[in-house]
Amino acid sequence: MKVLIVGSGGREHAIAWKVAQSEKVDKIYCAPGNAGIEEYAECVNIGAMEFDKLVAFAKEKEIDLTVIGMDDPLVGGVVDAFEEAGLRVFGPRKNAAILEGSKAFSKDLMKKYGIPTAAYENFDDPEAALEYLETAKFPIVLKADGLALGKGVLICNTLEEAKDGVKTIMLDKQFGASGNRMVIEEFMTGREVSVLSFVDGKTIRTMTSAQDHKRAGDGDTGLNTGGMGTFSPSPFYTKEVDEFCEKYIYQATVDAMAAEGRTFKGIIFFGLMLTEDGPKVLEYNARFGDPETQVVLPRMKTDLVEVFEACIDGTLDQIDLEFEDNAAVCVVLASEGYPVRYEKGFVISGLDQFKGKEGYYVFHAGTKKTDKGIVTNGGRVLGVTATGADLKAARANAYEAIHWVDFEGKYYRHDIGKAIDEA
Ligand code: AMP
Ligand code: GLY
Repeated sequence: MKVLIVGSGGREHAIAWKVAQSEKVDKIYCAPGNAGIEEYAECVNIGAMEFDKLVAFAKEKEIDLTVIGMDDPLVGGVVDAFEEAGLRVFGPRKNAAILEGSKAFSKDLMKKYGIPTAAYENFDDPEAALEYLETAKFPIVLKADGLALGKGVLICNTLEEAKDGVKTIMLDKQFGASGNRMVIEEFMTGREVSVLSFVDGKTIRTMTSAQDHKRAGDGDTGLNTGGMGTFSPSPFYTKEVDEFCEKYIYQATVDAMAAEGRTFKGIIFFGLMLTEDGPKVLEYNARFGDPETQVVLPRMKTDLVEVFEACIDGTLDQIDLEFEDNAAVCVVLASEGYPVRYEKGFVISGLDQFKGKEGYYVFHAGTKKTDKGIVTNGGRVLGVTATGADLKAARANAYEAIHWVDFEGKYYRHDIGKAIDEA
């Protein structure tokens, strides 16, 4: 069969690599893709938000299955556009992708269906938000309602900071229309864990757990980023935690969406916080995580295309998801200055070193092929993943492999997976 993948980051590279292993697949296209994805897929220059062009391309090439990697097109209704054209596509429809697209929606859903999450209030009016803050407890968390490249969350320690935050989100509109509404939420403490899952509308199958590192600097300092590295599994995601989430969170979310007439098919990414009062949902995403995917898929044994098809067909109950009994660590190599200001266009050397080395992967995030060779083309440039018998071995392998590649301004965190030592 012919598969089209929509997206251009490290996540889509990992998806393309895994899809390429399926015996069912003869040909892969990626729109728009990147220099790494080209190894597995023919990249076509169509943007992820160009729905008409994507649909026309899929029709022309007789694509059997399209997989959407990114949040923006899902929230914008790309799946509806494909379905209306009679094309098979993996991902939630617009009315279900709202689970990620509106934090106010997801908070109301959790409240209505008793799914554990932080206490909160939604606001459309900045004046009302400011008034509410006068009697609030600090720290407190402000969240722009809509998509904001993972940056629309402000943790405020004082009333002054929170007032500034309301201004940033709702008045200055630093995150655009995403800030027309805002969630103000109780600050929680605990370990964070990401759990990705496949959903076919009624059945949910969770994948192995992972943990991201969102801050730019060592020791969780500096600005929030798209994610600087991950490890999988999380040693803090114990059997007890899993049982609790199975009972109160996972199926409950799928059932709640169905009950609301918003049947969810695709990936639900549960961002969890393991608090003293038990696991609570920090956020939902409606797609694979980036860079969680880069540690989860290398550990997955099951044919990914079979799982995609089962989600579309509503037969996920017949699938047994299997993961290797090992561990993986991904260290993101970014451009110096990310996530604020950085240069692009530096030649990347050493990529060939990964060829033929089992258990080592270099997933491209922001790269481009030019006459000079493959060059940097984004804030996050590469994700270097290594597997190992356990987390410590995987981390040692990943930190060995990051030295195989080089480019000017190569920046990375030195402490990805440090939490492993505390487990
Ligand atoms: P989100 O995009 O909602 O996952 O938020 C981004 C990050 O902000 C999370 O990964 C947490 O580290 C932090 N965060 C979000 N909500 C809360 C909360 N209620 N309490 C503490 N930290 C939070
Ligand atoms: N790694 C967090 C995300 O994909 O949103």
